[in-house]
Amino acid sequence: MARKKDESVKERSADELFKDFKEVSITEFFRKNKAHLGYSGKLRSLTTVIHELVTNSLDACEEAGILPDIEVTLKQMGSEHYRFTCRDNGPGIPEQHISNVFGKMLAGTKFHRSVQLRGQQGIGVAGVTLFSQMTTGKPVRIITSTGNGKVHDIQLMVDVTKNRADILEDNVISQKWRGTEIQGELKGVLFNLGERSPYEYIRRSAIANPHLKITFVDPEGRKSVFDRTSKEIPKPPKEMKPHPKGMDTDELINRAKRSQSRRVSSFLETEFSRISKSKADEIQGMVNFDLKKNPRKMAWAEAEEITKAFEEIDFMAPPVEGLRPIGEEQIDKAVLKILKPEFSSVLTRSPTVYGGGVPFQVEVAIAYGGNSGRGNSDDGGRAEIMRFANRTPLLFDTGACAINQAVQSVDWKRYDIRDFDNSPVTIFVNLVSVHVPYTSAGKQSVSSEDELVKEIRMALMDVGRRFHRYHSRMRREIEKEARMNTLIKYSSELAAAVSKLARKDEEKLTKSLQTLITKKLKIEYKALESEDKK
Ligand SMILES: Nc1ncnc2c1ncn2[C@@H]1O[C@H](COP(=O)(O)OP(=O)(O)OP(=O)(O)O)[C@@H](O)[C@H]1O
Ligand SMILES: [Mg+2]
Repeated sequence: MARKKDESVKERSADELFKDFKEVSITEFFRKNKAHLGYSGKLRSLTTVIHELVTNSLDACEEAGILPDIEVTLKQMGSEHYRFTCRDNGPGIPEQHISNVFGKMLAGTKFHRSVQLRGQQGIGVAGVTLFSQMTTGKPVRIITSTGNGKVHDIQLMVDVTKNRADILEDNVISQKWRGTEIQGELKGVLFNLGERSPYEYIRRSAIANPHLKITFVDPEGRKSVFDRTSKEIPKPPKEMKPHPKGMDTDELINRAKRSQSRRVSSFLETEFSRISKSKADEIQGMVNFDLKKNPRKMAWAEAEEITKAFEEIDFMAPPVEGLRPIGEEQIDKAVLKILKPEFSSVLTRSPTVYGGGVPFQVEVAIAYGGNSGRGNSDDGGRAEIMRFANRTPLLFDTGACAINQAVQSVDWKRYDIRDFDNSPVTIFVNLVSVHVPYTSAGKQSVSSEDELVKEIRMALMDVGRRFHRYHSRMRREIEKEARMNTLIKYSSELAAAVSKLARKDEEKLTKSLQTLITKKLKIEYKALESEDKK
């Protein structure tokens, strides 16, 4: 039966519908979708601001070869209203770039480079400016100098419709200083000292960056200084060419369009890792066009032929020298200083690849006793999992994270940690890669690629075994002492009885009995220990 047309619904033409069609700026998009940047929830929003500022300061110092000295202050201005300050001794920001750094999204020095840094997208700090202005209506203040004797003291706001900053004030002061300080206000946020707080973010940053000195003054005026345990500045990040495995056609075409090479063959040889002249010849044999062609004129179907050849050819594994792990010795020093554990063990695995061609490396540590675990917080004595990606603490979105999944997949009972969740244990995992597969732009959780989960799990099982050895040794020591004490206690009673029966000197008998007990027990435990070592 034909339906009757509803008279109340008026038909509208496409022209009418498209009347409101217009472009939106990226800043406008994030203003409406701020949760994508990590600005959701009162506590998380505050931690996100600190995270963006601290990671930028660390990246800038590392690239400039400077030992970072960072000071973060939070001051309470009213209910759910705070003022933040983050000051670093980094390279500073050149005058002409200040407004783009703080007021333009998708602008930065890291996006196009395949380097292992904490920042990737060129959104972070403009997001801070935007969030501050959205909650208070006020500008942020930036004081920066490159050490040229001129210090800029600037106030700026973001013009969301244009994705750029309006500088409201720019005072230039003559002073010899180098670094950057950012100040601003936030409303609708909350501070506490819990496991997802700015305090915890800073504490964990200190553990994963032993060369960092960071000071935090909390809203109550309490000052925590995390001094550096190492003066070794990490090697500057090195750019890594992409590996052919895992390359898709769109990315290949884009790179070809930007290439300066005259031929597709030389483009492949110079812009990819592991493509030698002979590999380029092999590719030539598998495609139906001449690789002498200008790469900027390469058609989609031709690029597709190349990516197909990439899949079929065997290439050497990607080079890994661009990866920069923290290092076992450095982690150990930081863990000992900050957690003061009874036992700790650190392991850095060899680099390997995920997703067909992206190199990565895993570092883990286990700490037991002392300040390990969450025993000092309100939660009571519980296990603590510290997740890091390129030395940056990940505090949110725990459930879906590859690191968390790997920790949960280990059967800790096998390593003598019977009730893992309620043990005074800290598990530290740092994932190092030029491209960390985050699950969202908020960068708080790593996607569960099989290779990543497997590699982290193997490393954890290794340190788990080391803990097991330590723990059995400790248990044995306690047992040994208890047995020795009991036997020695009875030896004098036994000696007294024997001396009466055999008419021998009681003191001498006690002494020889005690020597016998100690000797026998020593032999017994030595045998057990060597069995253990095997
Ligand atoms: N404290 C600082 N000192 C020197 N340069 C800085 C500082 N903070 C930011 N920058 C520069 O500003 C750029 C933009 O920073 P922003 O945080 O927006 O993006 P990003 O760090 O490149 O990437 P992400 O969005 O992943 O954080 C950086 O790439 C860097 O060049
Ligand atoms: Mg950043």
